[in-house]
Amino acid sequence: MWPALIIACLAATPLAAQDFFTLKGHGGPIMDIAVSPNGQVATASFDNSVGLWDTRRAMWLEGHRAAVNTVQFMSNDLLASAGDDNSIWLWSLASGEGAKVATHTAKIVDIARRPDGKTVATASWDATIGLIEMSAQGTAPDEKRLRGHKAGVNAVAFSNDGETLYSASVDGTIRAWSYSDNNPISTVIVKHGFGVNELIINDAEGWLAYGATDGGTRIIDLQTRAQIADFTLERRPILAMAYDPNSGHLAAGDGQGFIMVIDTNRMRITHDFQASRTGPIWALAFSQNGQNLLAGGIEDIVYSWPVATMREHEPMAGEQRSFLEKPETLANGERQFKRKCSICHTLTQGSARKAGPSLYELFGRRAGTVKDYTYSDTLDGSEIVWSAETIDALFDLGPDHYIPGTKMPMQRIVKQIDRDDLIDYLRAQTAQKED
Ligand code: HEC
Repeated sequence: MWPALIIACLAATPLAAQDFFTLKGHGGPIMDIAVSPNGQVATASFDNSVGLWDTRRAMWLEGHRAAVNTVQFMSNDLLASAGDDNSIWLWSLASGEGAKVATHTAKIVDIARRPDGKTVATASWDATIGLIEMSAQGTAPDEKRLRGHKAGVNAVAFSNDGETLYSASVDGTIRAWSYSDNNPISTVIVKHGFGVNELIINDAEGWLAYGATDGGTRIIDLQTRAQIADFTLERRPILAMAYDPNSGHLAAGDGQGFIMVIDTNRMRITHDFQASRTGPIWALAFSQNGQNLLAGGIEDIVYSWPVATMREHEPMAGEQRSFLEKPETLANGERQFKRKCSICHTLTQGSARKAGPSLYELFGRRAGTVKDYTYSDTLDGSEIVWSAETIDALFDLGPDHYIPGTKMPMQRIVKQIDRDDLIDYLRAQTAQKED
């Protein structure tokens, strides 16, 4: 009798609950959050994976070869994600199976869904916008590129009727593209000057909101392009924005860890909350009923606060993250590891969903052999055995030269003394521990 009751209680805990809660499981910072029309939550992480959350547990969608920057629900069965590996993937929500559908020549930082659900737009730092038409199953999607911005594109959004696409760029402008033309051309509708990071379009109410690197937080009339309101504070940059059409709440998160909530019906700030003591807000999304605000940043945890009582709950990053510790308090080897490796590797047993494998018992270990980690084809079955010499060569030459094809990002440690100290530190910290 009891077990049945317990199951019923668990099932009755949807993510949209009005309580404060956290979602734990990612192995790196949270870069984006999306909420589907039926309340499902998807997260993009620096750990190279997408989390698809069912109450408090995630199904992990693995395929990206670098940090995932953005996620977007396309339909009841389809999720899109894109990231630092320059590629966009589509995933079936039912099976969790995914496939790469297109690539840019630089990282992709935002995805927009056309309201017809058949087209995705991608914003890339290669200064182009990709338009991908979903085709009938089995055939390759049709792809088009929009050129016009003079620097990386940070954000894309469609109007409700799907006829206009808006884009915001590092070049400091927002452009509008007439979507129905075969070769859409664009006009600059906002010249902000500093890079524009975030864009929210509300054509039902006739405005657009944007957030910029200089902290600029403005609402502009879509018809006249006149400024309706300016919520710019002393804080910058603006890194995340979200809008809930039911309540009219607009949220903006910044590099200093604050989240501001604006009531757009009255054009007034209603909440201003230091959500993180030690890091930026990279991801924001409202729950489906608009009552909670979900946020992510440098921690590997998603926080969800009821908007009305945000200030009464625990903020993010209560503990200082190790890679943010004061560098002068650490010995050189430890400092090298914390600053250059710890975001992707653990030193203890278990890779903890980080972007790279655990380095536990690294010395004497064959490359590519940690059981709970999926390596690139290059490292899988490699002949390399890790020792002071091979680790030294790895960072003297750089992973891209020492093991071409690896998914470990390119980096070199130029000074011999830094490599030596790092290796000594690794040798001490990765040794087998008796418990
Ligand atoms: C941004 C993430 C990232 C950072 C930072 C990083 N690595 Fe890696 N590392 C990886 C990934 C991903 C792999 C797996 C590569 C593959 O499968 O091709 C890897 C693999 C390795 C391996 C091979 C492990 C094995 O089991 O074969 C070693 C050794 C290693 N890294 C050491 C380091 C050290 C030391 C640093 C810091 C100087 C570092 N890494 C920084 C992501 C990272």
